[in-house]
Amino acid sequence: MFKTSLKLMVAACSLVAASAFAADKVEVVIDAQKPGPVINKNVYGQFAEHLGAGIYGGLWVGSDSKIPNTKGWRNDVVGALKNLKVPLVRWPGGCFADEYHWREGVGPRNQRPVKVNTNWGGVEENNAVGTHEFFDLAEILGAETYVNGNLGTGTAQEMAEWLEYMTGEGKSTLAELRRKNGREKPFKVDYFTIGNEAWGCGGNMTPEFYTDLYKQYAAFLKTPAHNTPKLVASGGTVGHEEWTEYLSANVKPTWSLRMDAISFHFYTLPTNDWKVKGAATKFPEKEWISTFNQTLRMDGFIADAQKSLDKNDPEKKVGFYVDEWGTWYDVEPGTNSGFLYQQNSLRDALVAALNFNIFHKYADRVHMTNIAQMVNVLQAMILTKDDKMILTPTYHAFDMYKPFQDATSLPARINHNTTYTVGDISIPGVSVSAARAKDGKLYVALVNTNPKEAVDVAVNVAGEKVSGVKGRVLTSAAMDAHNTFEKPEAIKPAAFSAQAKDGKVSVKLPAKSIVVVAVE
Ligand code: AHR
Repeated sequence: MFKTSLKLMVAACSLVAASAFAADKVEVVIDAQKPGPVINKNVYGQFAEHLGAGIYGGLWVGSDSKIPNTKGWRNDVVGALKNLKVPLVRWPGGCFADEYHWREGVGPRNQRPVKVNTNWGGVEENNAVGTHEFFDLAEILGAETYVNGNLGTGTAQEMAEWLEYMTGEGKSTLAELRRKNGREKPFKVDYFTIGNEAWGCGGNMTPEFYTDLYKQYAAFLKTPAHNTPKLVASGGTVGHEEWTEYLSANVKPTWSLRMDAISFHFYTLPTNDWKVKGAATKFPEKEWISTFNQTLRMDGFIADAQKSLDKNDPEKKVGFYVDEWGTWYDVEPGTNSGFLYQQNSLRDALVAALNFNIFHKYADRVHMTNIAQMVNVLQAMILTKDDKMILTPTYHAFDMYKPFQDATSLPARINHNTTYTVGDISIPGVSVSAARAKDGKLYVALVNTNPKEAVDVAVNVAGEKVSGVKGRVLTSAAMDAHNTFEKPEAIKPAAFSAQAKDGKVSVKLPAKSIVVVAVE
């Protein structure tokens, strides 16, 4: 009697377990009828600093170079970046910006002063790339411009005169100097920021001191009304999060004071330790998961900033720009430690995708981000060696997410998500984002952080009949799969599709993968 009821109970439990398992399959529900804010294309912005081979060699070779170039910018790299539809480039730094004096970078190149790049390797900076060259690059790319002003070692007068030089229309001496230097019509400055990391390399300031300086400098940055850049206050970072609250509470717009956004910097270190950050490749699984665990902190930083901004700026006039983000590893052995050169693997591509999904979630405040950096530095899109170049997995992630530029975000929730655990770290298995792109199609981006197990995801678009999905997948057998100059296509996206059954699409998301698909 006892044995029989035990058997019955076990059978009943297995039935419950089986049906619970079926119901617990990961399900993504997208509400196509509730459009959210537009994902500003500049969320996919880039950053090019005078640092290592980030500009010299990697992008700029000069017009006399044997490497094919346009106005000194190498054609291969620029071509690949054009394909990426780079929407915006931030220049000239970074820490470099607070020691950059614009007058040294205009006029005949052979007469420009040679300086020491004190921040990055102590190498010679010959100022070959200056204001005109930067705007040439932006125009070739069809990208918007984000110029970083020098607050640390420059005066309000120098900053104001740089803007006048770039945007002046009349016969002022500075506008005439620009013409003499080869540029008749004004440059289009889309964004301008006052200083960089003022809490650190930009001058070791308190938020109070910076805010006062911001107000002073902002008062003198004048441009023609139809060429007024959005003005950005350089904000905080991890450990200096209070800058967003302080700036948003204390900079109130007047006729002579604007602040269109506050910036924020956050780098992802596998170990979260600046002394031993972790390697870019050949890392253990515990650094695969710790990297994602670190990078997912971005969500909390933005959520906290949002609280301050919603309190101090309920009309949502002030943006929150994450104008430096990405992975920061120990430099590649044998390279100059001041050049921040690192390999880039499938792990970096997933870091990028996880951050994109976070940025989309906060599209109403996060109107711009700049991955650090575009070429050869930190989490780069492209690595170069002499006249060769390779596209990194991060490049492919940016490429796959192109439809999200200026798309309308859609609410997407995950039911019964998996959890991926190593040791004492657990993170969500699947991350999702959805949006209606400018081509009218609904796109879904999915990330599976688990490096060992594929996951079945049921994609359900509420309010729409779905026949299938089609797009691309990025994955590989190894967690640190990467491209080299010998094997430039070791990792690249592949075609991906799935058919719908009863209006739902079942997507098998491979282990350690990114899938971006259009719903059909
Ligand atoms: O991107 C490299 C450096 O990181 C930047 O120059 C600086 O702003 C940050 O600390």
